[in-house]
Amino acid sequence: MKKMLTENELLARLEQCQSLMRSLKPLLLEGYRINPGADTTRELSTENKTSFSDIVTVYDKRVEKSIAESLRKLFPGELIIGEEDTSDSNVHPEKACENVDLAWVIDPIDGTTNYSRSYPFFCSTLSMIERAENGWTPTIGVTFNPVSDELFYAAKNQGAWVNNHQLKTSSVESEKEALLTTGFASLRADPKNKKFLNVFKNLTTQTLGVRRDGSAALDLAYVAAGRIDAYWESGLSVWDVAAGILLVEEAGGNVTHHDGKPRNIFSGEILSSNSRLHKWLLNKIKEQQ
Ligand code: IPD
Ligand code: CA
Repeated sequence: MKKMLTENELLARLEQCQSLMRSLKPLLLEGYRINPGADTTRELSTENKTSFSDIVTVYDKRVEKSIAESLRKLFPGELIIGEEDTSDSNVHPEKACENVDLAWVIDPIDGTTNYSRSYPFFCSTLSMIERAENGWTPTIGVTFNPVSDELFYAAKNQGAWVNNHQLKTSSVESEKEALLTTGFASLRADPKNKKFLNVFKNLTTQTLGVRRDGSAALDLAYVAAGRIDAYWESGLSVWDVAAGILLVEEAGGNVTHHDGKPRNIFSGEILSSNSRLHKWLLNKIKEQQ
């Protein structure tokens, strides 16, 4: 296994990724302002992917192409895994990483459904993942919300930040003070959704509330920022969560599988929290087994 990048190498690459992601603002806002939901022109020319609710717009593809072109100039020869069409390989991301020790993971627009209707909760998110002793781990993460102009970023062991302010997960310990968020996999038919609809119902009555915002990457950034105390979902992809996992962990949070086992960035299953509520949430999910 190749040695992982040094702190200085990570910080230098993080800076390049911050400018790369900020440069997307005009393109992201151009599509956001079209709002086809207000009329039937459908200028975004959305298409369906795996199901009627899993859509992609021309802007997802244009943004991913722009990010991939910049990465290929900055870091030639390094593997790229993108949600849309720029991946260097068309196999499952974990398989694509079998013969490398480092890869770039792109979700050009996370929260595409929101984006396609000018609903202001979406982001563009980029992560660099490295092969570590205990499995693959994100070592750079950058998540950009162009509407709020918030750039969330982190490098391994360097803390998590938003626009130069350091992030810290919340100190909420009681469920009656907890504000939570979740999501339901794009594959609405996913049998796991029934169990998690029950978790959503139960926790809604026991806490300040459970939001369903529609962008996994931004949900994770909000846990890191202490705006939300926990987020869970299954049926995700590595590009939805890789940057956000690093943000939460660098801000003092905890990320595991729904049974408490160590997180796996490729599994699509995630429970993230401010650490203080983690055990309580594991039990709440277990109750719905
Ligand atoms: C989706 C969002 C949504 C989550 C879905 C994801 P996309 O990503 O993160 O919140 O519930 O499972 O697929 O498709 O908008 O990039
Ligand atoms: Ca996406």
